[in-house]
Amino acid sequence: MAAFRNAGLRRRAGVLVACCALTVGVVGTSAYADPGRNPGFSPGSAGAGDPYFPDMGNGGYQVDHYDIRLSFDPKTQAIDATTTILAQATQDLSRFDLDFQGPLTISRLTVNGQDATFTRSGAQELVITPPRGLRKGLPFLVSVSYAGVPQKIDDPALGLSGWVATKDGAVALNQPIGAATYYPVNDTPTDKATYSQTITVPSGLTVLANGEPGPTTTRDGKSTFRWLMNRPMASELAMIAIGDLNVTHGKTSDGLPNITAIGKSIDTKPGQGAVFNQTTAQIVQWESSMYGPYPFDSTGGILADVGVHYALETQSRPVYDQRTSNVSGDLLAHELGHQWFGDSLTPQRWSDIWLNEGFATYSEWLYQEKFQGTPVQKTFEQTYADEDNWDGKVADPGRDHIFDDLVYNRGAMTLQALRLKIGDRDFFKILKQWPSTHRYGNVSTQDFIKFVERTTNRNLDSFFQTWLYQPGKPTL
Ligand code: TRP
Ligand code: ZN
Repeated sequence: MAAFRNAGLRRRAGVLVACCALTVGVVGTSAYADPGRNPGFSPGSAGAGDPYFPDMGNGGYQVDHYDIRLSFDPKTQAIDATTTILAQATQDLSRFDLDFQGPLTISRLTVNGQDATFTRSGAQELVITPPRGLRKGLPFLVSVSYAGVPQKIDDPALGLSGWVATKDGAVALNQPIGAATYYPVNDTPTDKATYSQTITVPSGLTVLANGEPGPTTTRDGKSTFRWLMNRPMASELAMIAIGDLNVTHGKTSDGLPNITAIGKSIDTKPGQGAVFNQTTAQIVQWESSMYGPYPFDSTGGILADVGVHYALETQSRPVYDQRTSNVSGDLLAHELGHQWFGDSLTPQRWSDIWLNEGFATYSEWLYQEKFQGTPVQKTFEQTYADEDNWDGKVADPGRDHIFDDLVYNRGAMTLQALRLKIGDRDFFKILKQWPSTHRYGNVSTQDFIKFVERTTNRNLDSFFQTWLYQPGKPTL
């Protein structure tokens, strides 16, 4: 979904909750062309062109909406699902790929309601040939039914991601390459889409996901939970959390719905649920005052024993693994800060992930100053003195280093160095206007540099060159 198509999104997302009901008739026969008689029709590319993850994403189309309907059996850890995708061809397409990986078996695949041929190739390509070509500019629907036990990703450099089984359920955490372990997807941050997720589990278990809840229904010992994310979302930020959870419903003082949950096995102190909920609300409120209006229609968080040893900024509702070294206010400030920097604004390429982690880490520093009395400048000086933070390029750390301390710490230091150079007035103007200018879009380091130069009316090329691209400690 390209940013220029955001207008009318809300309306469209509403219609799309019923997206599976759309049929060939709605799309119209003009969507078809016989590739044999239309030699201009060609296959979409098998990757979206990210140098760190060349197989991720695909070309030839853009997704508007994912409708994921999935049931989960904790006894076998198996899922049974149908994912329906509303997309739009960006070229005359004879064939296209989705990303889909692991041992799940596909039982049926249709394009515009007609059975399509498909093959699976390499680690993650699902190659789909519709009965007739798909014309550029026209919408089409892909529906894939599949089942099996999803296999999480265990990457030596990037850790665990994807569909992760837990003691009491499962949690899906997709950054950077996990989404395709449980649904067919155009797995690139540059193709954002809205999502409806309908998840069925044995009654007693609870399901949270991104966005706002629909009605929960129970029958035959099973409960179905519905969640809608009606703002553009990158697949790396989609989330499902299934478990034995205590849920707290609240609101921020601006009236934003705030849904938090804590795994029952770790929800042991009285009042813990309320504290987690209120701290989340307070931080979102405070960050909104610095970063501009909160970009989504609800907030919250999930604290559970996931076993991945990190927290993740899943859109509108972060997940905090209890085994993260320290789940505290700073970590909440980090993940909630990502809602502006990372989620609403998402780097076009993974090499620019400092645009997420630098700002999220800076959010921690601001939190420590505001709520714990440690000035940002003091944190900066301590981080600057640490000899570990200098070996690499922040704005191109390499595929295996996107989560290195360098990206987080030197990213945040770059922002503090910028603040010292341009002054508080312009710096805080940038913190507010950068996310609002690129709301729901994709951004690059070059976009940021240009934005800062325009705001300050200064040439800062050599400053950014030194801080972002030159390994070694810059002189202050
Ligand atoms: N990006 C996450 C955050 O900063 C952390 C994270 C995700 C991570 N995956 C990881 C950290 C893998 C280390 C390894 O909030
Ligand atoms: Zn982060």
